[in-house]
Amino acid sequence: MAALLQPQPETIRHVADLLLAGEIVALPTETVYGLAADATNASAVEKIYAAKNRPPSNPLIIHCNNLDMVDEYAYTNVPLFEILSKKFWPGPLTIVLPRKSGLADTVTAGLDSVAVRLPQQPVMQKVIEAVGRPLAAPSANPSGYVSPTTAQHVIDSLGDNISAILDGGSCACGLESTIVMLTSSGRPRILRPGPVRMNELERVTGCQFDSLEIRNTPDDAQRAPGMLTTHYQPRARLLLWQGDASDIKPSTANDALIYFAERPPNAGTFNVVNHLGGGLLEQAERELYATLREMDALGVETIYMEVPRDTYSPALLDRINRASSGWA
Ligand code: TXA
Ligand code: MG
Repeated sequence: MAALLQPQPETIRHVADLLLAGEIVALPTETVYGLAADATNASAVEKIYAAKNRPPSNPLIIHCNNLDMVDEYAYTNVPLFEILSKKFWPGPLTIVLPRKSGLADTVTAGLDSVAVRLPQQPVMQKVIEAVGRPLAAPSANPSGYVSPTTAQHVIDSLGDNISAILDGGSCACGLESTIVMLTSSGRPRILRPGPVRMNELERVTGCQFDSLEIRNTPDDAQRAPGMLTTHYQPRARLLLWQGDASDIKPSTANDALIYFAERPPNAGTFNVVNHLGGGLLEQAERELYATLREMDALGVETIYMEVPRDTYSPALLDRINRASSGWA
């Protein structure tokens, strides 16, 4: 079982030494907890894929703590890089850039690009600084399951497979970073919606961004590895609804109703009822994964979840849609 460590200077040094010795550890970021390894060490990176049971075709994000480190491993002389990195780093924005050599090949799953981010979470920044190398880190969950937003979530679903977890409290965003791909020609593209919204990206750059619509073709798989629809799923069946909840009846005593709107729906017959984020958008983003995990812990069989209406959170809609994909 992994040791749960509080972030003090000694434990940060200890975790940095584990990473330099090729171990994998779970670390807090402002988006979700990550499962980190030294991105230059192929056998350490291999351990991430094994612990998560992650398909080898799904590349990892590298986490740096300054632009010099980014420059060492990626070409940053692409349009919009400077403006985006100045405005949104450190923070929940990942930028896909042409890669240089020096990273383990498995980090990028053999692609000639690399996804980079400078996280804002201070504990994470201190660990990267102490290691002095980029950390490859996907979300610290078994592949396909809901991402972790607390240290306890990591222990619950991955605790047996890793050596340590550094506790940084609850993640401030609660959803994974926005991923943008910058190329030397053509429009920049959002590969995954996240906390940095498209309108902010467009306002800051004065450019239009394309957003990727996943259709699950082999072509999509190549352009956006790891973004195919079945992802982020709780064990419970997740069914979506909109409008009036009064027709929805639980089929077992273990079913749950999650609603988002201000008005409480007619939910008399459900034993488990949850008002996601108190109806507040950013709070709902922060709480979505914790709520889905809580439903699984309660043994809920079917979650009837309201799709937030009239809200500008493509990230929230994206995660809810993926979590429910595959269920009628
Ligand atoms: O917020 C986050 O981004 C969290 C924290 C830990 O930083 N990390 C995260 O990693 O969500 P992960 O592995 O769950 O998702 C990374 C995704 C991949 O699934 C893939 O879609 C995309 O990043 N990706 C990575 N490298 C890429 C590349 N070279 N080209 C296109 N997409 C890439
Ligand atoms: Mg993930």
